[in-house]
Amino acid sequence: MTSSPLPEGVIAVPVALGQRSYDVLIGAGLLASAAGLIAERLGATKCVIVTDENVARRHLAPLESALKGLGRHAGTQVLPPGEATKNFGALAGLCERILETGLERGGLVIALGGGVIGDLAGFAASIVRRGIGFVQIPTTLLAQVDSSVGGKTGINTPQGKNLVGTFHQPNLVLADTSLLATLPAREFRAGYVEAAKYGLLGDAQFFAWLEQNYPAVLANEAAALARLVGTSVKGKAAIVARDETETGDRMLLNLGHTFGHALEAWAGYSQRLLHGEAIAIGICLAFQLCQELGLTDADTVRRVAAHFTAIGLPTRIADIPGNDAPDAATLVKIMGQDKKVRDGRLTLILVRGIGQAFVSRDVSTETVGAFLSRQLGEKNA
Ligand SMILES: NC(=O)c1ccc[n+]([C@@H]2O[C@H](COP(=O)([O-])OP(=O)(O)OC[C@H]3O[C@@H](n4cnc5c(N)ncnc54)[C@H](O)[C@@H]3O)[C@@H](O)[C@H]2O)c1
Repeated sequence: MTSSPLPEGVIAVPVALGQRSYDVLIGAGLLASAAGLIAERLGATKCVIVTDENVARRHLAPLESALKGLGRHAGTQVLPPGEATKNFGALAGLCERILETGLERGGLVIALGGGVIGDLAGFAASIVRRGIGFVQIPTTLLAQVDSSVGGKTGINTPQGKNLVGTFHQPNLVLADTSLLATLPAREFRAGYVEAAKYGLLGDAQFFAWLEQNYPAVLANEAAALARLVGTSVKGKAAIVARDETETGDRMLLNLGHTFGHALEAWAGYSQRLLHGEAIAIGICLAFQLCQELGLTDADTVRRVAAHFTAIGLPTRIADIPGNDAPDAATLVKIMGQDKKVRDGRLTLILVRGIGQAFVSRDVSTETVGAFLSRQLGEKNA
């Protein structure tokens, strides 16, 4: 990778993975330089842009015309927005579209969008011609702080979310924080949870900074956003460099996810409960469980919930809108189908305090079930 001077105010966070190393560039206004940076740093002949309708309407034109200007645009695929697009049919259509453009092995797929587009386009890039280059231009907060880094790709099947996919690292990630200005507030808050997660799992100072500075983040102030995204990406890059394929430390990134995924599945992966909202509740449940297990104290549990409440996020199962609530047995059953279940034991991320997470397989499903039963105010709990 050649290192040409970066546009002013842009920071580079390296993801150190030997031959598969790459940079995450973070800064406001980066999209305007994206085509030039891709051409200089990766030297690809042609590129196919993959995006969704919402993002295309707002942010596609400058990238497409800059690539055309450089003679590097092979085609653009605009997909319907939303989680439902992460399916086998869309994957097949996208692979065929990429091949139809004549993209060769030296070509690049550019994912311009949120986690849905990144996961799908990354998967297609990993299997077309047995693997071609891939650039992420994440446009949601969740994608900037989490999904665009680390190389996990995938789609959903009727059996569950992200059960089919590959590891395929991008060659470059360009996180333009000014693109977040058009993101709906609810999506922004949902992405914020994944950023706060890095503080909660391993960086107490960052969580304290968030408690002080969240108003500037919510007001879209450039310096605050750069710090939020930069610190999150550094946190993820360090973990991915230690454990690329999630056999150890990378599991820490699942803090709150065992509970959160179960709630998301129960709510039918719908607008009723966004992924980040489910994770906010899941993180609060994980901290509460740890209090019950004697690992952390009540003040810490309150501090986490208070911060999420200040952001405008749900913190309890009862905060999920609608007239029905899940029962503990259903949630435990869903958890049993999790990818991280080994030999019938749940893998949970537990905490000894803010910034002190660890992986545990020692908590039985009965303990988790009884805990959820109490949370839900079930009789005989
Ligand atoms: N690969 C990973 O490591 C990883 C990690 C976490 C989550 N994920 C995946 O990410 C997906 C969720 O990603 P997401 O939250 O980004 O959702 P998303 O991609 O569906 O985007 C959310 C919504 O925001 C719209 N949007 C995107 N950017 C916009 C912008 N700048 N302005 C206006 N609207 C914009 C999209 O069209 C969509 O409607 C899930 O499928 C999840 O499984 C993957």
